Amino acid sequence: MNTETTMKTPASERHSDFLKSLVEFTKDHRAARWSGTLSDFLETIFRNDAKGIVRTSHQYIWDMLRANGFDEGFSDGRFRCQLFEDELFGIDDTIGRVLDYFKAASAGSEVGRRLLLLLGPPSGGKSSMVILLKRGLEAYSQTEAGALYAIHGCPVHESPLHLIPHTLRPQFRQTYGVEITGELCPHCASRLQHEYGGDFMQTPVERIFISEAGRIGVGTYAPHDPTTADIADLVGSVDLSKVSEFGDEGDPRAWSWSGAVFAASRGLLEMIEILKVKREFLYLLLTLTQEKNVKVSRFPLIHLDETIVAHTNFAEFRKFLQEPENEALLDRMVIIQVPYTLDYKEEARIYRKLCSSTQAFREVHLDPHALHVASVFAVLSRLGESEERDADNVKKVRLYAGEDVEGVAPGDAAKMKQKNPDEGLSGVSPRFVINALSNAIIQSQTKSLTTMDVLIALKDSIESDVRIDGKKKRKWVDFLVAVRKDFYNRWVKEDVHKALFVSFEQEAQQLLDKYLDEVEATLDNRTLRDPITSEERKPDERFLRSVEEKIRISESGKLSFRQEVVRKAMGAYKRGEKFTLDSHAPLHDAVEQYLFESRRDVLRLVSSAARPDDETRQKISVVEKRLVDEYGYDAHSAREALNYVTTLLAQE
Ligand SMILES: Nc1ncnc2c1ncn2[C@@H]1O[C@H](COP(=O)(O)OP(=O)(O)OP(=O)(O)O)[C@@H](O)[C@H]1O
Ligand SMILES: [Mg+2]
Ligand SMILES: [Zn+2]
Repeated sequence: MNTETTMKTPASERHSDFLKSLVEFTKDHRAARWSGTLSDFLETIFRNDAKGIVRTSHQYIWDMLRANGFDEGFSDGRFRCQLFEDELFGIDDTIGRVLDYFKAASAGSEVGRRLLLLLGPPSGGKSSMVILLKRGLEAYSQTEAGALYAIHGCPVHESPLHLIPHTLRPQFRQTYGVEITGELCPHCASRLQHEYGGDFMQTPVERIFISEAGRIGVGTYAPHDPTTADIADLVGSVDLSKVSEFGDEGDPRAWSWSGAVFAASRGLLEMIEILKVKREFLYLLLTLTQEKNVKVSRFPLIHLDETIVAHTNFAEFRKFLQEPENEALLDRMVIIQVPYTLDYKEEARIYRKLCSSTQAFREVHLDPHALHVASVFAVLSRLGESEERDADNVKKVRLYAGEDVEGVAPGDAAKMKQKNPDEGLSGVSPRFVINALSNAIIQSQTKSLTTMDVLIALKDSIESDVRIDGKKKRKWVDFLVAVRKDFYNRWVKEDVHKALFVSFEQEAQQLLDKYLDEVEATLDNRTLRDPITSEERKPDERFLRSVEEKIRISESGKLSFRQEVVRKAMGAYKRGEKFTLDSHAPLHDAVEQYLFESRRDVLRLVSSAARPDDETRQKISVVEKRLVDEYGYDAHSAREALNYVTTLLAQE
C-alpha cells in the first residue's frame, strides 16, 4: 500500500533519516556501564539514589510507564503512555486499566501481590501489549533514571543490597531511610563463601540492561504439549555436566538456572496462554507473585521479585472456571479484559499498520474506503450478538466512532456500551480481515484494490471458512450487505459528487452564503440589489424552496426552519465564527444535494455514451483526475468508483 509517508518522501531522504535514527539510537544506548565492588556501589551509586535502587519490579515498571507518559491537552485528565500510543488503537480503556494496575501496585496496594491476567478474544492485542511493555523496559534500563544494578554473575541478577546481612539491616534503614527486602540467592550465597571468603563488601556489582534476548529482566513462557511440559522450563534443573565439578547435586552452582522465572527476575515474566499450564505451575507462579519466592529442589526458598503478566482467551478461561478448585486461584489474579475495539476508524488503523509492515501490501494501492468497509464489517460482527435490530447497530457503529447521529445525544454512546458489556468480546478479529485482504491481493493483478474487491474477498473468506457455522456465515454476509448499503454507497457518492466541482468546499460555501442572504431578506421583507445590474429585486423564493426541498422541509415548516438557521448564523456571528456547512447538519445535506444534482448530467454521460466523443471523455477524465489528486484514489479505482456511482444513480 502506498502510505502517505512512503509516497511523499524520496528514497534518499528516507535513507538519511534512517541513518540519523541509527546514530541517535546508538547514542541513547551507549548508556554508562558501571562495575565495582559492593563497597564502591554503596559509596557512589547507592548514596545518590537510594530510593531508585530499592524499587520493586512493579515500581520499576510504573516508573518506566511514567517516563513514557504524557498528559497534555486531554480534558479527561487521564494519564496516557506514549509506549502504546502509535501501536495499539481503540482500546484506551483497557490500556488505562493496565496503567492503573501498575500505579496501584507501585504504591504498595494488594494488587501487586496478584498476577495480572489479560483476558480477551483471539488476536485482540494481548501479546502486543506485553511486547510493548518488554520493549519499554529494555529501553528504560538504558536510561539514567532506569539504571539497574545487580550482583555480577548472579543467575537471577539480584539486587546487590541482598548482600547486606540481616543483622545490619536495621542500621541500614536508619542510615539511608530505605528498606532492604529479599535474600541472597543460593548461588550467590555459595559463591560468597567459596570465592570471597564471606567478604561481601568485595563482591563485584555491575549495571545491568534489561534484554529479552539476553534473558535479563524479561522471561517468556509458552506452554507446549501439557503432557511433556516440565516444571524445569520454569525453574531449571540439575546441570549434570557441572555435578562432577562441584561434587554434589545439591550445590547451587551445579544447578542450571535457565528457567523463565529466573530470566524474568527484576522485570517482567510473560506467561502465554497461562490457563493451559498444569496446576502445579500455576501454584508456583501465584506463590511467586504473592510471597516473592519459589521453592526449588533442595534449596531454601529463593527470593525473586518480578511482575507476572499472563494472557489467555475466553475458551480456555471458561474451561478453567468449570473446575471448582480453580476459584481460589482466580482470586489471586487481577483480570483485565482486552476486547476488540468498537470504533471502526481505530480498527482501520490496525489494518493500516499491519498492511504497511508487509511488502506485498505496500505495493498495492487501496482506495480510500477499502479498509473502512472492512472495519465497519468487523465492528458490526462484534455488536452482532445482541438482540438489537440491524438498523440500530448501523447507527451504533457510527456513534461509537464519534460521528453525529440524528436523534442520539453524543453522551449516549458510553451508556450504550455499559448496557452491553459483552460487545467487543467476540466477532471478527483483525487477523481474519488481514487474511482476507492478503488473499485479495494475491488474486489481483492490478496492484490496485477497490472497496468492492475487499467486500468480495471478505465474502469469500467467510464462505470458505470451515470454523464458522452456516447460520453465522449468513449473518456475516448480511453485515457485508449492510456495510455496502449503509456506509460505502454514501461515502463513494460523496467523493464522486465532490469531484464534479473545481473546488467543492468553495462552491458549497458560496451557495450557503447565498441561501443565508436570501433567507434574511425574506424574513425582513427586504429587497436585494443585483450586483451587476444594480436593480432591486425580491428574494428568490424558488431558489430557497429548491434547496429546502432537498431535505424535505415542507411549505408549512419552512418559516421555522429559516428562523432557526438565522438564529444559528447570528450565534456564530456573535462568537466571531464563520457560518459554514459544518455549523448546520441539515443545511449541509441540503446544499450538498443541491450542488450534486446540478452536475448529474456529467455522470449520466459516463453511462450513456457508449462511444464517448472528445468533449465527454474530457469531462469524465477531469473528474477522475480530481478523485486521484484530492480524494485518495488511483486511476483504476477512480474509474471503478465513477462507474459504480453512475450505476447507483441509475437505480435511484
Ligand atoms: N487494538 C489493536 N491495536 C493495534 N493492533 C492490534 C490491536 N489488536 C490487535 N492488533 C494487531 O493484531 C495482531 C494480533 O494481535 P496479538 O497477537 O497481540 O493478539 P492476542 O490477543 O495476543 O491474540 P491471541 O489470543 O491469538 O494470542 C497483532 O499484529 C497486533 O498488532
Ligand atoms: Mg497472543
Ligand atoms: Zn544471586
